[in-house]
Amino acid sequence: MAKNDSEMGINTLLAHSGNNPHDYFGFVNPPVVHASTVLYPNAATMAARSQKYTYGTRGTPTTDALAHAIDALEGSAGTIVVPSGLAAVTVPLLAFLSAGDHVLIVDSVYHPTRNFADTMLKRLGVEVEYYDPHAGAGIAALIKSSTRVVFTESPASNTFEVQDIPAIAKAAHAAGAIIMMDNTWATPLYFRPLDHGVDISIHAATKYPAGHSDVLLGTVSANKACWKQLCETFYTMGCCAGPDDVYQVLRGLRTMGVRLDHHQRSALAIAGWLEGQPGVARVLHPALPSHPDHALWKRDFCGSSGIFSIVLKGGGQKQQHAFLDALRIFGLGYSWGGYESLAVPVFLGDRVVAKGPYDGPLIRLQIGLEDVEDLKADLARGLAAADGS
Ligand SMILES: Cc1ncc(COP(=O)(O)O)c(C=O)c1O
Repeated sequence: MAKNDSEMGINTLLAHSGNNPHDYFGFVNPPVVHASTVLYPNAATMAARSQKYTYGTRGTPTTDALAHAIDALEGSAGTIVVPSGLAAVTVPLLAFLSAGDHVLIVDSVYHPTRNFADTMLKRLGVEVEYYDPHAGAGIAALIKSSTRVVFTESPASNTFEVQDIPAIAKAAHAAGAIIMMDNTWATPLYFRPLDHGVDISIHAATKYPAGHSDVLLGTVSANKACWKQLCETFYTMGCCAGPDDVYQVLRGLRTMGVRLDHHQRSALAIAGWLEGQPGVARVLHPALPSHPDHALWKRDFCGSSGIFSIVLKGGGQKQQHAFLDALRIFGLGYSWGGYESLAVPVFLGDRVVAKGPYDGPLIRLQIGLEDVEDLKADLARGLAAADGS
């Protein structure tokens, strides 16, 4: 294509990034390379490992196609592809933390990230501390001489607070720490972490990039300064992803722009409607003007995806379960980002700072690609059941 990547529209990038069809006889999609052994033409090449592909764990044309496509979207120096979104969190933390280091993790983080920090990182001698998602520049007060990593996730898992990423990046860098961000909610279409000072951008590609609830995959993208260390850890750990899953995510990327646009519009229509429903105390969606962090979201993000939470007006677990059990279209399931709508009860018992108070039980909704009026009718059934319980 004639234009530079940086000049192209996002849907053009999604349609054409990653591979050159003419490298494979003109076939539009790259081959799915199933590989462990790679042959060398002679002993000298083998001794020097001086050819592009050397071993199945260290990359194939299939993994390269996805990594290059993600680099084009993220503006990153390099991307590793790992077998799950959770591995996309744990591998960079292991790459940059050692015994005696201090890590600051946002309190509203995805729960398995907290579990990894509280078990494995602590066992390895890393000091783990949780901070308020609204800390912003104030994070400087928590940074110690041993702080190596500040871990962010914005908007927050389940409660959707928005972090001031540029302010946190500035404070982290001033103290010689690096900043990582789990950017799964926005995808690089609606927020580009590296443009806002983040060093390492993390995605559960399981969600919107895959888009069909049938694949687990993670990507981790680094700027130039962090790429070598990230990549070496990836090779050291041998945690490469399977070629069929990698291919499915590359396939999903081609339509991610149009799918996300639909998720965004439906989620906003439903979130706005829910704000007017008598059984709802609050809607936690940062793209709604009523959200306390709306101005911050508007400053930094250029879109919103399909998940947000609602707070029921009063009640407890009984009302929460009555709501969930009355739903007929929304499924009860955790992994989001697919084409179908989902609802889950939110549990905040693991939080140390960001735990409310809220006026009632929380329910997280993923708005899928179904028709909005059908989804509203289903949610109305849930609200009526919660009210009557
Ligand atoms: C914000 C966030 N990060 C990471 C993950 C982990 O992704 P995976 O399910 O692929 O391990 C999830 C999964 O729900 C998530 O919500």
